[in-house]
Amino acid sequence: MVRLNENYLKLPGSYLFSTIGKKVAAYTEEHPDAKVIRLGIGDVTQPLVPAIVRALHEAVEEMGHAETFHGYAPDLGYAFLRETIAEKDYRARGCDIAADEIFISDGAKSDCGNIQEIFSADARIAVCDPVYPVYVDSNVMAGRTGEYDEKTGTWSRVIYMPCTAENGFVPRLPEETPDLIYLCVPNNPTGTALTRDQLAVWVDYANSVGAVILYDAAYEAYIAQDDVPHSIFEIPGARTCAIEFRSFSKNAGFTGVRLGFTVVPKDLKRGGAAAHSLWARRHGTKFNGAPYIVQKAAMAVYSEEGKAQLKDQVAYYMRNAKVIYDGLKEAGYEVYGGINAPYIWLKVPDGMTSWDFFDYLLEKAHVVGTPGSGFGPSGEGYFRLTAFGNYENTAEAIERIRRLKKG
Ligand code: MLT
Repeated sequence: MVRLNENYLKLPGSYLFSTIGKKVAAYTEEHPDAKVIRLGIGDVTQPLVPAIVRALHEAVEEMGHAETFHGYAPDLGYAFLRETIAEKDYRARGCDIAADEIFISDGAKSDCGNIQEIFSADARIAVCDPVYPVYVDSNVMAGRTGEYDEKTGTWSRVIYMPCTAENGFVPRLPEETPDLIYLCVPNNPTGTALTRDQLAVWVDYANSVGAVILYDAAYEAYIAQDDVPHSIFEIPGARTCAIEFRSFSKNAGFTGVRLGFTVVPKDLKRGGAAAHSLWARRHGTKFNGAPYIVQKAAMAVYSEEGKAQLKDQVAYYMRNAKVIYDGLKEAGYEVYGGINAPYIWLKVPDGMTSWDFFDYLLEKAHVVGTPGSGFGPSGEGYFRLTAFGNYENTAEAIERIRRLKKG
């Protein structure tokens, strides 16, 4: 009899945000009158901007006529979009990236989860702790993580790099040598970022030990400080050691539209093989291309009109971030992030765990956030709020938390 992949049985019961969703659903069923404000999952709330809506309409119209109809998209993405990304996101910033090094996909989450397939089964992974759960869970599924220790909440083969207030949320180079290093900058969940100099340390390290950096830059659009790089390819040496993931979810509101891309430089080789060829092979075999209409919509992201509208949208969310950051700080909380990212990371009151604080906020303020421990053992004692809500709800949520604190 066939056996199921037992690695899946080692995973936590459900994905973090499903667990939160279930808890909130149970609470609202019991308390139907509670006006619950959700600042948990980092999902956008503002509508697609007019330039994107128009591009979608036009592309749908094209699909309705035989002469302009499009069937399967090219597996790796339409040339018009790959060229535009290479030019506007990379070469315009001085990064040496060619259009055929860009792989269009249905989103960064899929690519972050799938990329581990092109590496050896025995690769050791290193992750920041706290960490976006997809990096670890996808490696658990592939059997790369060893055994789970309930007490510490860690996997025996994973190298955890604590990022806490004590080290300014900057991971230290690990003592054991990893093969794959996941870095998310600006960071989900802490909302903090690495400077160019701090990232250069990692690029030099990866090149010196032969490791590969899997660089998640999904929140790049929120970078406000000049010394924070927008791409790892701004760092000399990154072409031989890094893969970068980008998303249209957070900069253009595509969480429900789905589109992202991954940059795999042709210079990234290990054991004589090029990661680029393997990822192209994987993409071609398992993916039939992102929809034409969605790739056309992405073109509007790079138009002058689209850029201006999206700049306002990012500013809208960052105004929320400021309301959260300032409001919590004034209320006496220790607060981090929110400058280069739409996430605020706060220290929970002494004597509470992250999940205690989750329950406390839900019950007393009807505000939903994400417990830090859900992102890893070093997230215990912290809590994440997202700036992706609408302004009125965000301001109301912070007011409720402040009132609660005052007693
Ligand atoms: C989050 O809340 O961490 C995000 O929604 C994650 C994601 O983009 O998948």
